[in-house]
This record gives sequence, C-alpha cells and structure tokens, in this order.
Amino acid sequence: MEIFQDLLLRRQSDRKYCDKPVEEEKILTCLEAARLSPSACNSQPWSFVVINSQPILEKAQKRIATMGMNKFVKQAPVLIAIVLEKANFTASLGSVIKDKEYPLLDIGIAANNICMQATELGLGSCILGWFDEKGLKQLLDVPEKKRIPLVISLGYSAATTRSKHRKPMKEILHFNSYKR
Ligand SMILES: Cc1cc2nc3c(=O)[nH]c(=O)nc-3n(C[C@H](O)[C@H](O)[C@H](O)COP(=O)(O)O)c2cc1C
Repeated sequence: MEIFQDLLLRRQSDRKYCDKPVEEEKILTCLEAARLSPSACNSQPWSFVVINSQPILEKAQKRIATMGMNKFVKQAPVLIAIVLEKANFTASLGSVIKDKEYPLLDIGIAANNICMQATELGLGSCILGWFDEKGLKQLLDVPEKKRIPLVISLGYSAATTRSKHRKPMKEILHFNSYKR
C-alpha cells in the first residue's frame, strides 16, 4: 500500500488516456471512496451517473468538450457525473444560518476521494467543472432543476507524472494569526 504523500504527488489532472477500458470493479471502488466521504451533517448530498458505454459516452464527451475546452475527454473511457442532491434538513439549515454552501463543499470532497482512489488503483483522472451542464442533464435524464457541479474523467493515463505547481507554503500558511 502506498503512503498518502506519494498518492498526493502522483494524483494529477490527467488529460491523456490509453485506449484501454476501465474494469467495472475499479469504477465501483472509486465510487465507494465517494460514498465514504465526509459531508456536513452527514447529509451525503450526491448521486453519481457513470458513463462508460457507447454511444452515450460519445454524446457526453461532446457536451463536455465545448467552446474549445476539455477536448481531451474524447479519449476518456469513463466519465462520472456528480449530481447535487437535496441536503438533509440540518445541513440545509446550517448552510442558511452560516451562509456557507455545505453541499458544494461536500461534492468537492467526494470528487477528490474519487480521484485519490483512482490514483491508488493506477488510474488517471481529471475533475471537470467546464461543460454544457444543461445538455448533459438532458442526456443523462437528470431533472432540469438538479445540478451537476462536477464531472470526473477516468481512464488509464497516457501522461507522464508532472511536478506540482503550487504557491509556496510561506505565502499560504499562518500560525495563530492571519497577520503573521
Ligand atoms: C473544481 C475544479 C474544476 C476543474 N475543472 C477543470 C476543467 O474543466 N478542465 C480541466 O482540464 N481541468 C479542470 N480542473 C483541474 C485543475 O485545472 C487542476 O486540478 C489544477 O490545475 C492543478 O493541477 P493538478 O490537478 O494536475 O495537480 C478542475 C479542478 C477543480 C478542483
């Protein structure tokens, strides 16, 4: 088993995939990682639509590769659309009182868990926030009123591991006071 830090360094947004299908068992393991994610008030405001069969995959890819963005998804053998479901009462109330979008935070955590699990399984992944949401909802029979905040592409990566470009720690870290 890998240590967590190695996984963090190996996880990257993969935008090149091999022409190799992803085993259903691996897809299910990634979704189990999402299911086990924490969420505000354990609300679990999510459901997942796995897209892994033609011709629906091709149609979904077209709705994600829009306006010159995300062309690479046309190589991805699996897409996972994360549907934002209604939060439970306490999370909804908490969101209003504290003016925080708990359900969207929950979705982000679940998305990252999918990607981290994918990395551990030797798969590449990319979180996608840019796509034709309306078109995708129609294609997947997701009711118009619901949202799809994110889609994740999955596949065996054909990319090499890049080094991370991140802000230096001294720019983002404060001990005990924001001013220091
Ligand atoms: C909420 C969110 C939305 C994103 N949307 C896209 C996207 O639409 N297309 C894309 O290629 N990458 C997308 N990314 C990936 C980021 O560009 C990437 O995580 C960032 O540049 C850091 O690179 P790394 O993931 O390889 O470490 C998204 C990431 C997040 C967290």
